[in-house]
Amino acid sequence: MAVLVTGGAGYIGSHAVQRLLRDGARVVVMDNFVRGRREALHRLGLGTHPALSLIEGDIADAAAVHRAFTGEPIDTVMHFAALAYVGESVHEPLRYYRANVEGLARILEACEAHNVPRLVFSSSCSTYGNPPEGMIPVPEDCPQSPVSPYGRTKLIGEWLIRDAAARWTAQGRPFSAAFLRYFNVCGSDRTGLIGEDHEPETHLIPILLQVAQGRRTHIDLLGEDYPTPDGTCVRDYVHVEDLIEAHVLAMRRLAPGVVRAFNVGIGRGYSVREVIEAARRVTGRDIPVRSAPRREGDAAMLFNNPARITSELGWKASVSTIEDMIDTAWKWSLANPRGYSPGR
Ligand SMILES: NC(=O)c1ccc[n+]([C@@H]2O[C@H](COP(=O)([O-])OP(=O)(O)OC[C@H]3O[C@@H](n4cnc5c(N)ncnc54)[C@H](O)[C@@H]3O)[C@@H](O)[C@H]2O)c1
Repeated sequence: MAVLVTGGAGYIGSHAVQRLLRDGARVVVMDNFVRGRREALHRLGLGTHPALSLIEGDIADAAAVHRAFTGEPIDTVMHFAALAYVGESVHEPLRYYRANVEGLARILEACEAHNVPRLVFSSSCSTYGNPPEGMIPVPEDCPQSPVSPYGRTKLIGEWLIRDAAARWTAQGRPFSAAFLRYFNVCGSDRTGLIGEDHEPETHLIPILLQVAQGRRTHIDLLGEDYPTPDGTCVRDYVHVEDLIEAHVLAMRRLAPGVVRAFNVGIGRGYSVREVIEAARRVTGRDIPVRSAPRREGDAAMLFNNPARITSELGWKASVSTIEDMIDTAWKWSLANPRGYSPGR
């Protein structure tokens, strides 16, 4: 039995591939490299590791998806493949719906055709939008009201999976699914082999580290007038390896036919200003900041209540301070100053 990791060449997906191989699983990666890094897969043993194979293709292409399911039987799909930039989704909504909704529908059709019993879905805290009063920290039953096309594609993804699973389970073919609603994912694997390398980079911590390394002159502070204690957005962060642990626990512990949502974040909010200060402390470098307008689609304050994932899956973050998370990313940046592309 194998695990299909869609988006396995991406930041989070590659960390899943690393962990699954370490656990002795066979892994099939499907990726179209729109954002993923071939070099990440090479570092994980693509071409030499007997348990790792790649299907290159688009998840919205039914024939390519079919190829990914026709080798060895797939026991679990970990579905990471998606376009994942909030700002870009505002400008290119149809492209986002095609990748994130139509692509997921193709994956579910293949799950049905090939009798796959289980899927772990990369959902997002952005499905909550701006939680109503009294809903922070955010529990899983908080109303979901996304404020960006990206967030809406993730919410529709949850509905798609829920409806398909209900039908198949009613037909006597139990299908289980976990919606892992990630808060902000950061850090790098602690062996230093793989890390976060997006082009363009929109995530706060890698941008701060690029400034610290002199690859950018400054960081734009996107809005200082949010209704938060210091006026900048507040987010919950989770280390990428802890996030992957949540995937492994969901894969192992979800009972057949169960569909369940879990928030994944440490349960503490950090403002953008606090993250900038932490990055200055970790790197010991100057990080110039420039004021900039708000970015469309950003919620003011989002942090998680981790009670459900702790009690039901036994998950607990092993990295619980922003400094320790940044430290793993900083080590990766120092060892890979141009990410996976030394010539860049
Ligand atoms: N990074 C975060 O903080 C965060 C937070 C919440 C949710 N997520 C979700 O986690 C998942 C992984 O995020 P990431 O940060 O690793 O992003 P990423 O861009 O690094 O990885 C996504 C991968 O999917 C691939 N991909 C995209 N569209 C595809 C398509 N149509 N067909 C085949 N492959 C395709 C890309 O090439 C890439 O390798 C995404 O679903 C994202 O929405 C991420």
